[in-house]
This record gives sequence, C-alpha cells and structure tokens, in this order.
Amino acid sequence: MNPNIGITDKNRKAVAATLNLLLADEYVLYTKTRNAHWNIEGPDFHSVHLYFEKLYEELDEIVDSVAERIRKLGHYAPATLKEFLELTHLTEKLSEKNDSQGFIKELLADHEAIIVFIRENLDAINDAHKDAGTADFLTGLIEDHEEIAWMLRSHLK
Ligand SMILES: [Fe+2]
Repeated sequence: MNPNIGITDKNRKAVAATLNLLLADEYVLYTKTRNAHWNIEGPDFHSVHLYFEKLYEELDEIVDSVAERIRKLGHYAPATLKEFLELTHLTEKLSEKNDSQGFIKELLADHEAIIVFIRENLDAINDAHKDAGTADFLTGLIEDHEEIAWMLRSHLK
C-alpha cells in the first residue's frame, strides 16, 4: 500500500532516488572507516584505532536511518554492495597513506563531499518535492557530518 502522506508518487520517487545515492555514499564511507580502523599504523595507533571505531559506529546508525527514510517514502532501499558501488559518488580506493593523517584526510574529504551533496539537494526536496520530513532529517544529517568533519579536520593541524 502506498503511503498516504500528502506527497505525490512522483515526488516520493524523486526523493527516494536522491536518498538511494546518499545511502550508497554513507555505506561506502562506513566501509572505508572500517578499513581505517583495521589498517591504521603509526605511533598514535591506539587512540586513532578507537576513534575510527566510534566513527564507523556513528555511520552504521546513519546508514540505517537513511535506508529507513527510503522505506517511509514507500520505496525499497538498495541493499547490495553491487548497487552501492554503482550508485556512490565516492571511491573505495585510498589515495592517501595508511597512517592517521592519510586516513583522516581521506575520510574528511568524503564527509565534506556528502555534506555538499545533501546541501545541493535540500532545497529541491523541501520546495519542489514538498517533503518537509526528509528535508528536516537531512538538515540534521548535515549537522552530524559537519560535527564529524570538524573533528577530523582538527586532527590535521
Ligand atoms: Fe575492531
């Protein structure tokens, strides 16, 4: 049964399509953060290893909330690694080194790319697609990513 929530089918579909892209980015970033947790090397190993664990746990919650937002709009969430790799704007390949600075730079760039992507789509979701609920959810998500980005950035001084 389609959700009867005052958003047209066309608009729900358009918003879900944007959320699919975001879900793929969040999932790839979650995996990259686990990579950082597992493969970090250097004299600051212990603290950064634990910090990356906290980050991927946060991303795990974000991934879940984006997927469930898609379901609330009456659509199915992409849920295979193949789909995520086809949909994502991010690349899995690390261009930086395996030390904390390298991983942190890489993760920061990805968080910032996600912030920019959400911001670029926010007005259309709120105005053109009339989905205030998703716009509010995404505004909160921008704040979450901005907080993470600030903390990552602070390691690079
Ligand atoms: Fe672990």
